[in-house]
Amino acid sequence: MKLTAPKGTRDILPAEIETWQYVERLFADVCGAFGYSEIRIPTFESTEVFQRGVGTTTDVVQKEMYTFLDKGNRSLSLRPEGTAGVARSFIENGMNSLPFPVKLFYNITAFRYENVQKGRYREFHQLGLEAFGSRGPEIDAEIISLISVFFQKLGIQDSMLRINSIGCPECRAAYHSLLKDFLADRYDRLCPTCRNRFDQNPLRVFDCKEEGCRALIADAPLLADHLCGECGTHFERLKQSLGNLGIGYEVDKHIVRGLDYYTRTVFEFVSVHVGTQGTICGGGRYDGLISQFGGGDVPGIGFALGIERLLMELSSRGIGFTAPPRPSVYLAGIGEAGCDYAGRICLDMRRAGIRAETDLVGRSLNAGLKYAAKTGFSHLAVIGDNEIRTGRVKVKCLKDGTETEWGLEEMKEQMLRI
Ligand code: HAM
Repeated sequence: MKLTAPKGTRDILPAEIETWQYVERLFADVCGAFGYSEIRIPTFESTEVFQRGVGTTTDVVQKEMYTFLDKGNRSLSLRPEGTAGVARSFIENGMNSLPFPVKLFYNITAFRYENVQKGRYREFHQLGLEAFGSRGPEIDAEIISLISVFFQKLGIQDSMLRINSIGCPECRAAYHSLLKDFLADRYDRLCPTCRNRFDQNPLRVFDCKEEGCRALIADAPLLADHLCGECGTHFERLKQSLGNLGIGYEVDKHIVRGLDYYTRTVFEFVSVHVGTQGTICGGGRYDGLISQFGGGDVPGIGFALGIERLLMELSSRGIGFTAPPRPSVYLAGIGEAGCDYAGRICLDMRRAGIRAETDLVGRSLNAGLKYAAKTGFSHLAVIGDNEIRTGRVKVKCLKDGTETEWGLEEMKEQMLRI
């Protein structure tokens, strides 16, 4: 049987890696400018981390997690996202004794057993960050401004920012009873999943993708219209802060987000180009998560961005990135002594940071020369008895065909200058 990558996963091949590396480096640089340090968390956690963090009534935990028992009979899950693991690490590593806000960014793979389609994978990559210990809306605006700087540097600054507030547990409790009253009249027409949601967590009906349910809830009361005084003020102040930073946004009262830990601010950046999977990035505040994990009353906020979706957006606009060309030399040895000498020069060049290669597959001299031209070397040198005797090498520039004779030290210096 032919071996293939599992459904929903893909290989990232050398032809596209330069764009990935560029985007990842740029994200790290922008995060650095905003005072974030990188954190690396495990690929899998105790299942409980996601059950308690993301929430047992969410699609992510109920339907999409890769959960397994290890040989010690522990229930583990591949991370479906980064926030719960980072929150666990924040507490476990005593980070609440650090000066607030504690700012952490990450570059992770994440796993969700989803219906695979364009922009929706079972293994995907997220760039994200979390900030702990700041309650005011200024940090919400700062994080949004970080994304906007990142997008601007990538040339996609016109992506739409949508914001909303989903309140705190107090306003939500009052709202839940309103929503339940509204849904009760329509209960029989809800899909079976939404009937469960009605009992367990009515807000999740907004996640439903069934046409019937979507139509039924089209004029449901919205949480944003029922915020308590403090949450209302927080949201107003967020809008002012965004205005102060010159960041355009649209209020979308329908955003609830598919994860349970959110409180107050939620936001998404949506592509103006890509269709159904157009949410490039999503995030929000989670003021109750750390205390829910037993870590004290520490507020938090963050976001994650799907790299695959970001790259789709870039390629739909014809944006790609290539690494700057670096000097490279192919050293073709003649005879055993020539090959040995070429091998030593090669190592010397590599130590200096110059890409260098000799033949490793038994190519003839002619085939070696063709290989060098075809595979993008900038320079080529043939090493024979004469070169061994004099220690000087004729190096041909493959771009313009010019040939220069250099001693070995000179060759390194000259090539590094290219
Ligand atoms: P999320 O909205 O579930 O949020 O995911 C964030 C982003 O990950 C999405 O906007 C999308 O670009 C990408 N994404 C999600 N699922 C897939 C998939 N199956 N295939 C490809 N890309 C996908 C979170 O994960 C939260 N942890 C974000 C956050 C951090 N909130 C606060 N802090």
